[in-house]
Amino acid sequence: MHSNVLIIGAGSVGGVVAHKCAQQPNVFSKICLASRNEERCRVIASHIPSHIHTAQVDANNPQAVVDLIQKFGPNVIINAALPLQNLPIMEACVQEGVHYIDTSDPEADPSKFELLGSYKWQWNFHDAFRKKNSTAILSCGFDPGVVNAYCAYAQQKCLDEIHEVDIVDYNAGDHGLPFATNFNPVVNIQEVTSPGIYYENGKWKETKPLSIARTFSLPELGKREMRLMYHPELESLVKHFKRIRRIQFWMGFSKQYLIHLEVLKNIGMTSMDPINIEGNAIVPLEFLKVLLPDPATLGERYQGKTYIGCFIKGIKDNEPKQIFIYTICDHEQAYREVKSQAVAYTTGVPAMIAAKLIVEGPWRHPGVFHVEQLDPIPFMNDLNEYGLPWKIKQEQHQA
Ligand SMILES: NC(=O)c1ccc[n+]([C@@H]2O[C@H](COP(=O)([O-])OP(=O)(O)OC[C@H]3O[C@@H](n4cnc5c(N)ncnc54)[C@H](OP(=O)(O)O)[C@@H]3O)[C@@H](O)[C@H]2O)c1
Repeated sequence: MHSNVLIIGAGSVGGVVAHKCAQQPNVFSKICLASRNEERCRVIASHIPSHIHTAQVDANNPQAVVDLIQKFGPNVIINAALPLQNLPIMEACVQEGVHYIDTSDPEADPSKFELLGSYKWQWNFHDAFRKKNSTAILSCGFDPGVVNAYCAYAQQKCLDEIHEVDIVDYNAGDHGLPFATNFNPVVNIQEVTSPGIYYENGKWKETKPLSIARTFSLPELGKREMRLMYHPELESLVKHFKRIRRIQFWMGFSKQYLIHLEVLKNIGMTSMDPINIEGNAIVPLEFLKVLLPDPATLGERYQGKTYIGCFIKGIKDNEPKQIFIYTICDHEQAYREVKSQAVAYTTGVPAMIAAKLIVEGPWRHPGVFHVEQLDPIPFMNDLNEYGLPWKIKQEQHQA
């Protein structure tokens, strides 16, 4: 089984996707890595033992993506660029009948960061993908992505009904720098400075950014405090698991990260509203991005592990049951394998697996899908096989 894969975006995630696709020559016979700046693609390609093609593309322009598709002839595109590129790349895929995968919820209007509701722009493509017999898989990184598959696995194998989900993401690694983000700084800082949103008893509830803390007892890590945040997978999971009563997303932060964030926020550096400096419109957060370390360069200095899992409560055979499914990924091991830190690794590996499962057939369904709508078993097997092994703890008890 052979296919051509086009990867768009040569940042920290795109680098991992390129390495992992190159490790599967029987699935991806030709690989092209394209980005706004081709030089970044060439640097990544120089670290990959086999030959991969590189190209320049501005993926904000659907016609430029169409031209590249016609030149390279991919069966599948893995979009590892930014949320703003999701819709133009999907448009090009529909036009040319190419399968599509991304790792983040879309951005339709760069002037406003949309929380709930942003997926509607991608769901609107469902009929167009179906008519072209092409598959689009949305947000297939780790969270969103793998955590959605954990819920699908729980529903298929462990529980009759899912009632409560707590998604926990704790990066216990250390890069030794005073302040850096593990993926694109603009996306990351917009996420953590937005209001916390969670779902409870049929309603979406909003809290002040990072204002709710809770301590979780995590297997192999111990007790850790985390903060409640909005995260896009909450929305699709509520849509697809009708019995969910409460779902929340929690992230762990170092004290140092929170202090820096607070100061940056207080002085206006996290704002996306342009300010005028001597006749030039400058967006403070875009300016901050240029000052902060490039997430793709953190790998060589990172030590420790990152930890992501789902506590899922529900009923099995009319009795309450709780499970915890999780993965621990080692920063240094990721760097040895693909020259990247573990946060990009946990995002890029699932995207490669989704492309593999489309090419091989189990995830090839015409239309636009979230991960939890697809069979979790081949995906969960491949996570074990390709670098993100998972574990499960199950407790069943009388009410
Ligand atoms: N689901 C998850 O678990 C998860 C976790 C982390 C990240 N993510 C997502 O992964 C994506 C990539 O993150 P990252 O940290 O790799 O970001 P990054 O390091 O900033 O890389 C983004 C890449 O996209 C390129 N790009 C930007 N605009 C482009 C355009 N118009 N046309 C072509 N290429 C363009 C950038 O080019 P330049 O080099 O020219 O800037 C850069 O190479 C983001 O959408 C992020 O939200 C998902």
